[in-house]
Amino acid sequence: MNERTADHRLSTLLERVEDQLRPGLLIRSVDPHDPVRVDRIPQPWRTLGCGNYAAVLVHPDHPEQVVKFYAPGRPGIEQEAEVYRRIGHHAAYSQCFHVGEGYLVLRRLQGITLYDCIRTGSPIPLQAMQDIDEAIAYAVSRGLHGHDVHGRNVMVHEGRGLIVDISDFLNPEPCRAWQDLRWAYHRLYRPLIAPLGLQAPGPVLDLVRRSYRLYRRLNSQGRSH
Ligand SMILES: Nc1ncnc2c1ncn2[C@@H]1O[C@H](COP(=O)(O)OP(=O)(O)OP(=O)(O)O)[C@@H](O)[C@H]1O
Ligand SMILES: [Mg+2]
Repeated sequence: MNERTADHRLSTLLERVEDQLRPGLLIRSVDPHDPVRVDRIPQPWRTLGCGNYAAVLVHPDHPEQVVKFYAPGRPGIEQEAEVYRRIGHHAAYSQCFHVGEGYLVLRRLQGITLYDCIRTGSPIPLQAMQDIDEAIAYAVSRGLHGHDVHGRNVMVHEGRGLIVDISDFLNPEPCRAWQDLRWAYHRLYRPLIAPLGLQAPGPVLDLVRRSYRLYRRLNSQGRSH
């Protein structure tokens, strides 16, 4: 697609966001530690995924882009836009095409999150983990931090690893999420879960997620005393 066609496609998408999506969309954050809820979405838009800050939506005529709408009252959009500016182009990351009021237009990444891989028994190759290590090192080389790289923020596509959410990469505080996920991959996933073909249903994974948060909280309190 040449540049003029791409610009034209983007302005059509932006019109659809302003004319259809924004007026009909209802998102809310019930608990800041849980994914936001999409209560209403206008036809023919579809929800691709939800995080604790935003819902990610797609229009069928624009399958190459996603619109990430922040829930009212949830901060961070300017920081996320800044991270994309610093990342530039890299195969393991998306790209930001437009910063709107309350939303970003991003390149759509194909793939399945690690969270969904565990839920559905889809394989997570070692190569994908190495790609994510390399992508974090690249972000660090750009003055960023591999913050909040957890199971819903990384994806596997055709055996390669992608980082789908970099909204916390300006945060310099230490974050163990990726380190802990790697530990679980090498100690639990490779020796146990993968060979036995185990799957963990959504509620079990949510329990693991909540327990992990509690464990981290207790641990950091323990350290500060
Ligand atoms: N560029 C993209 N292409 C395809 N799917 C995406 C893209 N960005 C996000 N998603 C999907 O939407 C979900 C939520 O997006 P994202 O993680 O960016 O939201 P968030 O609210 O910032 O999350 P967090 O709670 O981790 O801060 C992701 O887990 C993923 O499934
Ligand atoms: Mg996320």
